[in-house]
Amino acid sequence: MHEIEFLPFDKALLRAQTVVSKCLHAMIPDTPDTKLLAAMRYAVVGGKALRAFLVLESARLHGNQIGPASMAALSIECLHAYSLIHDDLPCMDDDDLRRGQPTVHKKWDEATAVLAGDALQTLAFELLSHTDIGPADASRRLVYGLATAAGRKGMVGGQMLDIEAESKTRGHTLTEIEAVQNGKTGALIRWSAMAGAELAGDDTRALLTYGDALGLAFQIADDVLDVEGDAAAVGKAVGKDADAGKATFVSLLGLDGAKRRADSLIQEACDALDIYGDAAATLKDAARFVVNRTH
Ligand code: IPE
Ligand code: IPE
Ligand code: MG
Ligand code: MG
Ligand code: MG
Repeated sequence: MHEIEFLPFDKALLRAQTVVSKCLHAMIPDTPDTKLLAAMRYAVVGGKALRAFLVLESARLHGNQIGPASMAALSIECLHAYSLIHDDLPCMDDDDLRRGQPTVHKKWDEATAVLAGDALQTLAFELLSHTDIGPADASRRLVYGLATAAGRKGMVGGQMLDIEAESKTRGHTLTEIEAVQNGKTGALIRWSAMAGAELAGDDTRALLTYGDALGLAFQIADDVLDVEGDAAAVGKAVGKDADAGKATFVSLLGLDGAKRRADSLIQEACDALDIYGDAAATLKDAARFVVNRTH
């Protein structure tokens, strides 16, 4: 049994990436290699692992061990990877590039992409219901939370609104845009931030406030990168949201307004963590990273 060590932000983010690839390797071995397994592994590795980082850091704040925290961290990266594979499909955002590499349906084919996404989604719940995650009530809280965050009331619901908004002719209101973003991006980030407290059976309120504000700020930064970002650095196509008629904060508030909104959300996120004292420094650094990132 090992405690989770305090590391500065950069190292803690790298640790999250390592935990994801090691734990994934343990869960899906290289042999026998099939197209499905290869596509699943390809989709999970190579990202920033920000959601895994949030799980590990909130787990550290609540005194959890690295083993169960790593399973939960991999679980959310599997769920996130599934959402990206499906988001990139021709029937959704129709993207060819992700993390600087061909998207899963470009590298393989659409059927493989749909099925790899499906299998990653179920793997996420397999991990959270594994006995190694800890007591049954901790497992149940995480499974229930992720099922809610991932489905109709969360990510999938938000993705549906995102797609529907494309065909709206009139402008979108702030309430509509927040509903899209809270669902498609906010829900998984909120779950990640709260996971450590859920695992320990502790009060989740401070992390909920942090996760809510961070999720919105994260999507604002993604929308800003679509306008201002460099495609090579971002690793995906940019300049697509406005043409597609996406309901983004940038489309409503303009670039400067959106950035100001992100800054105030980050302040809100950091303030919510004051009750943890210095131990929450890495989560506060993560909030600043989210709005200043170039990829
Ligand atoms: C991209 O998420 C999709 C959104 C929710 C905006 P990330 O920017 O976290 O993607 P990776 O995992 O680091 O590639
Ligand atoms: C994706 O949002 C959100 C989910 C995958 C749930 P975007 O469509 O803005 O993400 P990118 O820009 O393709 O990464
Ligand atoms: Mg999309
Ligand atoms: Mg997309
Ligand atoms: Mg985007």
